[in-house]
Amino acid sequence: MARIAVLGSGAGSNFQALLEKLGGQISLVVSDQPDAGILKKAKAAGLQTVVEEGGPDLSARILSHLDGIDLICLAGFMRLVKEPLLGAFPRRILNIHPSLLPKYPGKAAWEQALVDGAGKTGCTVHFVDAGMDTGEVILQAEVPVLSGDNAGILHERIQQAEHRIYAEAVRLVLERLKHVE
Ligand code: GAR
Repeated sequence: MARIAVLGSGAGSNFQALLEKLGGQISLVVSDQPDAGILKKAKAAGLQTVVEEGGPDLSARILSHLDGIDLICLAGFMRLVKEPLLGAFPRRILNIHPSLLPKYPGKAAWEQALVDGAGKTGCTVHFVDAGMDTGEVILQAEVPVLSGDNAGILHERIQQAEHRIYAEAVRLVLERLKHVE
C-alpha cells in the first residue's frame, strides 16, 4: 500500500475527500498554519500531523518528516514547494488547482475567472515543478460559470469537481508508478 502525505494550509475539504476515497493510504498531514482546519480533520481521523510554519528552509524542514512516504498531495497548500523537497520526490508531488490551467494560476483562481467573464472554468490536478501551478497536467474537469455566480458559489462548484478528480488522479499516478518500479 502506498504511503501518502497531504500538505495543506486551509479548511481541508480536499484532504477529507482524499481520505474518504483513498482510506488508509494517507499516513501524514503537514500544514504551515497551526490553526488550519485540515489539521483538525486529520487529528479527528487519528492521523499523524506536523506543523512547519513558513520561513527559511521550509521545504527542507518538511522533507525531514517524509521518511517512507511515496507520494505527496498538495491540497490547498499556499506555499511554493522548493528544493530539496522537489528533487527528493520527482513526479511524486501532485497539486490541485481551482482552474483549467494554464488559465488563472496563483491565488483565488475562481475570482480571476469571474473577473475575466469566462463561461467556464474548472480544476486541474498536475505534477508540481519549480513554477507556480506550471507542472504537467494529470487530470482536469470543467465547471460552468453561471449567471448570478459570486465568488463563493463558483468556488463551491469547483470544489465539488476537485473532490471528484483528485483521488482519481492519485490512483492514476500510483498505477503508473507500479509499472515503473
Ligand atoms: C482548493 O480549492 C484548492 O484548489 C485551492 O485551495 C482550496 C483549498 O481548499 N488551491 C489553490 O488555490 C492553490 N493554488 P480545501 O482546504 O478545502 O481543500
